Amino acid sequence: MPYENIVTEINEGILTITISRPKALNALNTPTLKELEHAIGEAEINKDAKVLIITGSGEKAFVAGADIAEMSELPTVGGREMVMLGQRIFSRIENIDKPVIAAINGFALGGGCELAMSCDFRIASENAKFSQPEVNLGIIPGWGGTQRMPRLVGKSMAKYLMMTGEMIDVTEALRIGLVDKVVPQAELMERVRVIARLIMKKAPMAVRMVKRSINHGLDMDLASGVFYEVETYTTAFATADRVEGMKAFLAKREAAFEDK
Ligand code: CAA
Repeated sequence: MPYENIVTEINEGILTITISRPKALNALNTPTLKELEHAIGEAEINKDAKVLIITGSGEKAFVAGADIAEMSELPTVGGREMVMLGQRIFSRIENIDKPVIAAINGFALGGGCELAMSCDFRIASENAKFSQPEVNLGIIPGWGGTQRMPRLVGKSMAKYLMMTGEMIDVTEALRIGLVDKVVPQAELMERVRVIARLIMKKAPMAVRMVKRSINHGLDMDLASGVFYEVETYTTAFATADRVEGMKAFLAKREAAFEDK
């Protein structure tokens, strides 16, 4: 499928998906969402893609939200379809069996902030800005924001941000736990690639089980979550890479993992 609104690039195990609609600050319209869904589907089955990075083109915006021009023309049923399409894609991003890093290079507003929150963690440049401004438009966050944001920053702060629509800078985003690291804009992509390479050196099944255990466990009560952790732990323990990792530690050498 030829892409018009996103760019994908794979290099040494790192698949970078760049949302690229400069004229609308990378806002997500339906064609862009469909391209993103296709790219995620390809990533799911591409064994060469070990870690995904999602970012926006240019220096101003990660993603400025859902496309307001498109939404303004939609009947109620169309609004519902667009929100369900985005939710389906963001859930696939959240649950893909590979680490996904958001590299936030500017405005992450509305659906852009929601896209970032569906990634495993968020690295932002110093100029990044965040908000859930949907109440200004007579709507609410619909791509999982009302659910993922309180899980990241707490119920009260999520309500504050969604009821006021306040735009926050990266220092505040870091303070409340919306982003995990802040780096200079010029270094953003290289710093994110360094993190991706660091993860790729680890035992792959162990990394997958961390993601699965946290994602699914957090939706359970504590007792069920720790019970589930026994299973994800055991899955990692059963690998040849576990034997190699422990042997390498004891032999004081670097482990050579083979995803076995
Ligand atoms: N949808 C469509 N077009 C958008 C857009 C969006 N979300 N955000 C920006 N654009 C367009 C602008 O309309 C403008 O187009 P023109 O040049 O054709 O006029 C262009 O991008 C540049 O934007 P501005 O001129 O507004 O740039 P600025 O620097 O003055 O402001 C901004 C930047 C603060 C990001 C401002 O553009 C803005 O507030 N954008 C809207 C953000 C927003 O409300 N996002 C939430 C959308 S709702 C949502 O996402 C719902 C959901 O959960 C599914």
